[in-house]
Amino acid sequence: MASLLMLVCLLRSLAIPLGQGRFVADYGEALDKSLLYFEAQRSGKLPTSQRVLWRGDSALSDGHSVGVDLTGGYYDAGDNMKFGFPMAFTVTMLAWSVVEFGEELKATSQLDHAMNAIWWGTEYLMKAHIKDNVLYGQVGDGSSDHNCWQRPEDMTTPRTPYVINETNPGSDLAAETAAALAAAAIAFKDDPYHLKLLDHSQRGTSYAL
Ligand SMILES: *[C@@H]1O[C@H](CO)[C@@H](O)[C@H](O)[C@H]1NC(C)=O
Repeated sequence: MASLLMLVCLLRSLAIPLGQGRFVADYGEALDKSLLYFEAQRSGKLPTSQRVLWRGDSALSDGHSVGVDLTGGYYDAGDNMKFGFPMAFTVTMLAWSVVEFGEELKATSQLDHAMNAIWWGTEYLMKAHIKDNVLYGQVGDGSSDHNCWQRPEDMTTPRTPYVINETNPGSDLAAETAAALAAAAIAFKDDPYHLKLLDHSQRGTSYAL
């Protein structure tokens, strides 16, 4: 997922050598596809703006077993797990891409898609931070999930939620999540939404420390 940042870096040097002339890499299309990938990884109730139409609503009961709404966020990879740690890292990288290369993203009409990709992650990360010192960091059971290959729309594997709190702490997860929300707050600096991101980030940081 860090590849997005690299792609944006490459966009900076769009002087594609035509020397041997056989192949012109279209980094703009690659960037577009990279951001589409995040839509394909979306969990939960999909919005009408969803562009990857073969994906449907999924995991709409995540968190219900513990009375919490943990729907949304991103699936991890080729599985149906939701892991807070890599999700937070991913949101950080997306936000960093916008902070560093917002102009380039805008020039290729990808800025809104990038902001949506961040937002889809931050909405989930803030939901998972249900109160001070309590943060859900995972939904799903790795063993059973990895033992079968089901699309998330049809999955029958347990959706076990895992939480960190004062008796089961996890400073790494809390700090990574706080960092993601802080980075997203910079990306959203012109939108009042950044205040909500900062609030969760600051409380998450206090917990991590
Ligand atoms: C932390 O979470 C665990 C697992 O759900 C739970 O058993 C424990 O009581 C919780 N601790 C606090 C302080 O809520």
